[in-house]
Amino acid sequence: MKLNAIEKALMNNPARALLQRQYEAPLLKRMGGSLEGARVLEVGCGRGVGTDILFTHFGAQTVYAFDLDPDMVQQARRRLQSYPPARLTLTVGSVTQIAAPSAAFDAVVDVGIIHHVPDWRAAIAEVCRVLRPGGRFFFEEVTRHALNRWAYRTFLDHPRQDRFSGTEFLAELERHGLTVVDSVELFFGDFVVGVAQRGIASPDGAEMP
Ligand SMILES: C[S@@+](CC[C@H](N)C(=O)[O-])C[C@H]1O[C@@H](n2cnc3c(N)ncnc32)[C@H](O)[C@@H]1O
Repeated sequence: MKLNAIEKALMNNPARALLQRQYEAPLLKRMGGSLEGARVLEVGCGRGVGTDILFTHFGAQTVYAFDLDPDMVQQARRRLQSYPPARLTLTVGSVTQIAAPSAAFDAVVDVGIIHHVPDWRAAIAEVCRVLRPGGRFFFEEVTRHALNRWAYRTFLDHPRQDRFSGTEFLAELERHGLTVVDSVELFFGDFVVGVAQRGIASPDGAEMP
């Protein structure tokens, strides 16, 4: 579901962009390494600050990015207009139905969107489908612990039913054949941040990390 006006204001401001560049990107990079030369998908790219960081901080070669909200995609287009079409594709789309073949990406990045999706398990299934064997999933998610807080319930719009804890989010990744390489829960369990890798099939067909 799309953000309401309050959450858009919280997300789309210079302080948040600074936090993304100075704290979130270095943390994710320490956990999962660089993406030098990689073909990367960003789900729920918002206004495109994270997409820019994938090029400038992670070294991605190409980025495919989409968001459910056409207004966000429009903002991202303006921000990212200096990248050539050979390196950047921006579209409107949903993480529950990713318009890409299976195993298409070296990495998928999710910064705070899957908690907005009513069927969050379907979103994780799609992310896992489009990751190639050995590909990495970088995530930063908001848990049930945060969504149950008064401020979240009063001022922000999120699905109310069937939200996940950090542990449940990680377990769902493992259920789809991803191995959690590193993860941490922040702010008393309000956020879960980490990197998981899709298993690589061994010659006898068994999955190995
Ligand atoms: C909290 S914002 C984060 C945006 C961006 N990743 C960032 O860090 O600034 C969540 C974003 O997810 C998008 N979104 C919500 N449901 C979605 C879905 N099913 N598929 C794709 N994007 C979705 C919203 O429109 C919004 O831009």
